[in-house]
Amino acid sequence: MELLTDSYGRRIKSMRISITDKCNFRCTYCMPAEGLPWLKKAEILSFEEITRIARVAVSIGIEQIRLTGGEPLVRRDVPELVSQLKKIEGLHSLSLTTNGILLKQQAKPLAEAGLTRINVSLDSLLREKFAQLTRRDQLEQVLEGLAELEKYPAIHPIKINAVAIRGYTEEEVLSFAQLARSKAYLVRWIEFMPLDADQLWRKEDILTGAEIKQIIEAEYGPLQQIKSGDPSETARRYTFSDGIGEVGFINPVSEPFCSTCDRIRITADGQLRTCLFGTEETDLRAVVRSTTDDDLLIQTIREAVKNKELKHYIGDKRFKRASRSMSRIGG
Ligand code: GTP
Ligand code: 5AD
Ligand code: SF4
Repeated sequence: MELLTDSYGRRIKSMRISITDKCNFRCTYCMPAEGLPWLKKAEILSFEEITRIARVAVSIGIEQIRLTGGEPLVRRDVPELVSQLKKIEGLHSLSLTTNGILLKQQAKPLAEAGLTRINVSLDSLLREKFAQLTRRDQLEQVLEGLAELEKYPAIHPIKINAVAIRGYTEEEVLSFAQLARSKAYLVRWIEFMPLDADQLWRKEDILTGAEIKQIIEAEYGPLQQIKSGDPSETARRYTFSDGIGEVGFINPVSEPFCSTCDRIRITADGQLRTCLFGTEETDLRAVVRSTTDDDLLIQTIREAVKNKELKHYIGDKRFKRASRSMSRIGG
């Protein structure tokens, strides 16, 4: 079977599936305070539909699946979906990106269902700042969720993602770094991208990975880069000379990694997106609901992937905003 490849020769191995557009936070850079008009239940792919798309995608070369949202854990019975996806032969990695708020209750059933990788988004370790940013005063619950996660060693590494915003992130760089020094966490900073619903993003707001690295090294000395075996990894990772965990930098703006991009995305309503910043989508849901012929589904995925975008144009005149906000794409 011919493996899934785009017109620039990039092998597509990773599929991110958003399983709900809803979220229990309202991060200012992502969603307006009042939320967004949620999709209706009938518009959202069922677990069976998701599993069918996943199985078909794996049969043509997808190796990694990551579940995202909105906040994926607000959907009911996610462990059930995890069990179904785990059964797909040829799938090497199944993971989840969450804001962590429901992990206290969900970590155990997710681990029992066979999930082995979880990334937790956490932008501030200060209660008031966290409450301001997420518009929810629930930092404590997220920290309890992380503590719960530590009880399940099968889930590793525990990754923390913090969006880096100038004027906001600097004062906490060392607190996050300290977390990575004292625990087996991988703490990663993500450069702020123009994906926010309120359109607050300005170029001046970007705090680059290089700047954050400098702050850390000024305090703790040189970091040691870890050689990654995976060319499509989004983060550059480093260890401390005297720490347990790692830090990493996801630099999509200052050091774009589009040339090694291996990702496609499925939205909660079954639209295939070939780039985070894409303006076109392919309606997989319509195909899934109109035929039981998997070959047609394969053909639709292949054709969409042929048109995968070369790169994003952040900071360039050619830049166009994505056709959906981050919460509706899934990150
Ligand atoms: P692992 O390294 O497998 O843990 O996954 P990941 O880094 O792809 O997953 P995660 O959901 O933690 O993604 C972190 C963030 O990196 C995303 O939310 C995006 O902000 C950014 N990112 C991931 N993939 C892409 C991409 O294809 N393009 C761009 N521009 N940013 C991306
Ligand atoms: N720029 C960078 N990262 C973002 N995320 C959400 N919006 C943005 C943005 N505009 C991150 C979240 C989470 C992941 C799914 O995407 O914080 O870690
Ligand atoms: Fe891939 Fe598009 Fe992200 Fe670039 S911006 S890494 S092409 S998804």
